[in-house]
Amino acid sequence: TYIVNDSCIKCKYTDCVEVCPVDCFYEGENMLVIHPDECIDCGVCEPECPADAIRPDTEPGLEKWLEINTKFASIWPNITLKKDPPADAEKYDGESGKFEKYFS
Ligand code: SF4
Ligand code: F3S
Repeated sequence: TYIVNDSCIKCKYTDCVEVCPVDCFYEGENMLVIHPDECIDCGVCEPECPADAIRPDTEPGLEKWLEINTKFASIWPNITLKKDPPADAEKYDGESGKFEKYFS
């Protein structure tokens, strides 16, 4: 499966949702997650994210993000249509430690 990590937080560009063939993105207040059981591993969303927030979970160190994606995909609503990112998205693009600072 692929997962969304904290690079998405407060950027939320939503380019990813338009390309997913199985519509498995879910939307929280300031980030999106992928439903790991619905993702078919096609990989098309990965290069679409301007913030580089989408990774295959085969990369080391992503256990925490697999857990977060799994948990919140079952709680948050599905999102399938691209929308405008937050006005200050660029300001947060590339900032480190966003999960600790802003996750909600
Ligand atoms: Fe959707 Fe494919 Fe991305 Fe999985 S890898 S979230 S199926 S676009
Ligand atoms: Fe987030 Fe990137 Fe999608 S910033 S909303 S994972 S395009």
